[in-house]
Amino acid sequence: MDAKKRSRWRDEDEDTELMEKKRQEKEKKKKLKQEKKAVAAAAIESKTGNKIATASQSPKISNDARPSDLRDSGLKISDEGILQFNAPLIKSCRSVENYERLNHIEEGTYGVVFKGRDLVTGEVYALKKLKADKNQQGFPITSLREIHTLQQITHPNVVGIKELVVGGSLDQIYIVMEYVDHDLRELMQSIREPFLQSEVKTIMRQLLSATQYMHSHWIIHRDLKTSNLLISSGAILKIADFGLARTYSDPVKPMTPLVVTLWYRAPELLLGAKEYSTEIDMWSIGCIFGELLTNKPLFDGKSEINQIKKIFDYLGYPDSKSWSGYNKLPHAKNINPPKDRPIPASLRSHFPFLTSAGVDLLSKLLQLDPTKRITASEALKHPYFTEDPKPKPPEEFSPFPTALESREHVESSPGAPAVAHGQGGNDAATGLLTDDEDEVEATRILLASPAADKTGLFREGAQGGAGFQLRFG
Ligand SMILES: Nc1ncnc2c1ncn2[C@@H]1O[C@H](COP(=O)(O)OP(=O)(O)OP(=O)(O)O)[C@@H](O)[C@H]1O
Ligand SMILES: [Mg+2]
Repeated sequence: MDAKKRSRWRDEDEDTELMEKKRQEKEKKKKLKQEKKAVAAAAIESKTGNKIATASQSPKISNDARPSDLRDSGLKISDEGILQFNAPLIKSCRSVENYERLNHIEEGTYGVVFKGRDLVTGEVYALKKLKADKNQQGFPITSLREIHTLQQITHPNVVGIKELVVGGSLDQIYIVMEYVDHDLRELMQSIREPFLQSEVKTIMRQLLSATQYMHSHWIIHRDLKTSNLLISSGAILKIADFGLARTYSDPVKPMTPLVVTLWYRAPELLLGAKEYSTEIDMWSIGCIFGELLTNKPLFDGKSEINQIKKIFDYLGYPDSKSWSGYNKLPHAKNINPPKDRPIPASLRSHFPFLTSAGVDLLSKLLQLDPTKRITASEALKHPYFTEDPKPKPPEEFSPFPTALESREHVESSPGAPAVAHGQGGNDAATGLLTDDEDEVEATRILLASPAADKTGLFREGAQGGAGFQLRFG
């Protein structure tokens, strides 16, 4: 009995001792962690000459952004004037000084991309400095959309966003993203020969899977092209560049047709459609599929009208029978099909090495009538992906050439259209800014640069070039 008692008390003493020891260890660990943090901060400060931004010290933004823009994008300005991003990952913006600038990767239409190293962890990231709109005051809407969209999407085949960092002023906002070794355009140029069928299937499946995810989350990318598809050395594809992405609604609302880089732009957009939806991404995917198979862009038009001509010569000229709603498209009445046009060759003749299932999938992606175009989820179920040769597991791809330090000298496709920055109304359903009539109007003005029509595709009296909605008389 005594022994039991003694034993019980002794146990309790031991418990108390143990707990005290644990508490002390915890305290010690906490102290060590704090010291480590302070040493790292001091190292950065001595390297950059700048104080590290913390939540309460973030650089202030000289702010011209409209409060509604910020509210709608998930950004807000705190009482202290700090730009804050309402997101679990991005609490308040740190300074870009936390990254060491490595090499410059590329300058595109909407941003400059460079490689940077996190000074604390040593990890490498891609930093995209968003270009400020010189003509508009405030934070460009396209940039807000890009940030907001990237934040909403978490998918293995969409580039991951780590945080937003800021420089000294509002025009210095950087998106910090995972760094991916290649983009598909640059990679295809360096490997020179087309991918194997099994490899094309793997790439296409990843692209379709991310697209299905985007579309099911009410997002249209609006600029799918090979240079916006990043691919890691382990053959994992990541969709990037959400600068033109936006949410869509059902029924669709008018949006600007001046989206998607010319070579990948769907015929309905080229013909001025303002009411369009996810089908425009599926057309771009058809163009990418063709490019992957041959290592050459499918329709490399030099102007909008030349692009239309290339598409129609390849796939045939549509009419209201083959494409219901064709005659209602703003520019359809200006199209004057050549009288002696040859019957277009079959798709099969362009891709003699492709299986019938492959040709079938390509033809379903390249349907001129958007209502007949295959969706991403239908395409993923297409027999092309289950027949032999089967998609190659990414880890079995032969090693890609070493990543280029800069992609500047890569022969590039035309840039993304410089669609109206900073315009737009408010989309009540999503809280995101929409392309409203202002943006459509801005687009019309941008489009109205009369260029000589050398194709003969326009009817007499119509003004050629991208502004061909303007007719004389
Ligand atoms: N996360 C990343 N990792 C590695 N490289 C990247 C990354 N993001 C972008 N790049 C490279 O930078 C290029 C330009 O980036 P991005 O497409 O986002 O900019 P942009 O200004 O919108 O381009 P554009 O108008 O030419 O389409 C890409 O084509 C790619 O080569
Ligand atoms: Mg791009």
